Amino acid sequence: MKLTDEESSMRDGVEGDAVAAAMDLLIRYGDALGAERLVDTRNVAGTMTQPSPAKAQLVREKGWAKAYAVINLDSDDDFEIPRMKVPTCQLQHGFSDDADGLTSYSKQSIELQADAESYYSERGVNVLATCTPYQVGNLPVRGEHVAWMESSAVVYANSVLGARTNCEGGASTGAAALTGKIPYWGNHLTENRYATHLLQADTSIDTFQEWGLLGYYVGEVVQEARPAIVGSLAQPDLADLKHFGAATATSGGVEIYHIPGITPEAPTLEAAFGGGTVPEAIRYGDAERRWAYETLNAQGDSDDVDFILLGCPHASLDQVAQVAHLLEGRRLHEGTELWVMTPRALRTMADRNGYTQTIMRAGGKVLTDSCPAMSRAAPPGTRVFATDSAKQAHYLPAILGIEAWFGTLDECVDAAITGRWRGELA
Ligand code: F3S
Repeated sequence: MKLTDEESSMRDGVEGDAVAAAMDLLIRYGDALGAERLVDTRNVAGTMTQPSPAKAQLVREKGWAKAYAVINLDSDDDFEIPRMKVPTCQLQHGFSDDADGLTSYSKQSIELQADAESYYSERGVNVLATCTPYQVGNLPVRGEHVAWMESSAVVYANSVLGARTNCEGGASTGAAALTGKIPYWGNHLTENRYATHLLQADTSIDTFQEWGLLGYYVGEVVQEARPAIVGSLAQPDLADLKHFGAATATSGGVEIYHIPGITPEAPTLEAAFGGGTVPEAIRYGDAERRWAYETLNAQGDSDDVDFILLGCPHASLDQVAQVAHLLEGRRLHEGTELWVMTPRALRTMADRNGYTQTIMRAGGKVLTDSCPAMSRAAPPGTRVFATDSAKQAHYLPAILGIEAWFGTLDECVDAAITGRWRGELA
């Protein structure tokens, strides 16, 4: 890999041992991928503070610097961790103290994370604590090279914002944060961003649920390829595309898609394909829609619902407001829990607007920082849960061994009030 003088001096230790280890990691990573060079980035989104058993042991025995060296820089050496060189944020992590006592999630993990927040904040990591950094101020511009983790955030950044990132990991983001560099390969290159597949929606995509179902089908069909979506599409909003992208990255590994006339790199269908041949369309009609719905509901059996999970990816303020509106003056069924996950910054606004209080008066909770899939924890005794999120419906049964129902927000709130699942495909 070709290095600039600045990169060579970082590798040679001019900026300290931690930066040298970070450069060494990036060079090894880039070489393995065939990257010819690195590219500058001033926007890193990683998971420095997230607790894990391995991290807990390292911190207990050798401190935070060692944990960063081993986990985020793939190095066994001992060195101090300097301030992050470029703006860096923490994505979602484990539950914090607002969820203390609500699940079996351990007190030790909550404390370890609080300690991590202090350590990393002192080194310049902005603890956004959400899978949707783009909802709380980290909004890269079109063409900006960034180094982000979290599949739902990566597909949003590439597709909706037109920023450029691969799906990075804990080590590559750890190294990027200390150097402001990331290997120049994959989605950073223009030629790797053009669509490869054409998906034609023959059925109307005009609700949050429909965007999720379509995304789930698209991911299944194209896997890690790059779809362009056309057809009977209503104007989506942030929540629709947040749901759609997360679903494509759940059943498949989509990191970028285009919707001609909507997403920034596809003013036209021709532009989506970079002027190349547009392939024959894969059709999405009633049968495909039903497949997505039935697959997402394949883990549901009992109609007795004891947990409703909303806000995956983390809910926008408008989504929290919608939940509050639907719960106004109502009361959850006894024994049924309802959680809305949202970024901490948006929870502050939800508090200010009274949405949190309305949801809490009904018996629900507005929680932050994490989610049941990430923290591997739901209300104790949960056997059957319901959600409006394709991603959460896909993962949670496998992670927690519980049944899942996938439906609309209205159906989820109805289940919270009645304790019964009565959802069906309209
Ligand atoms: Fe976010 Fe958890 Fe869903 S981290 S994308 S709410 S699985």
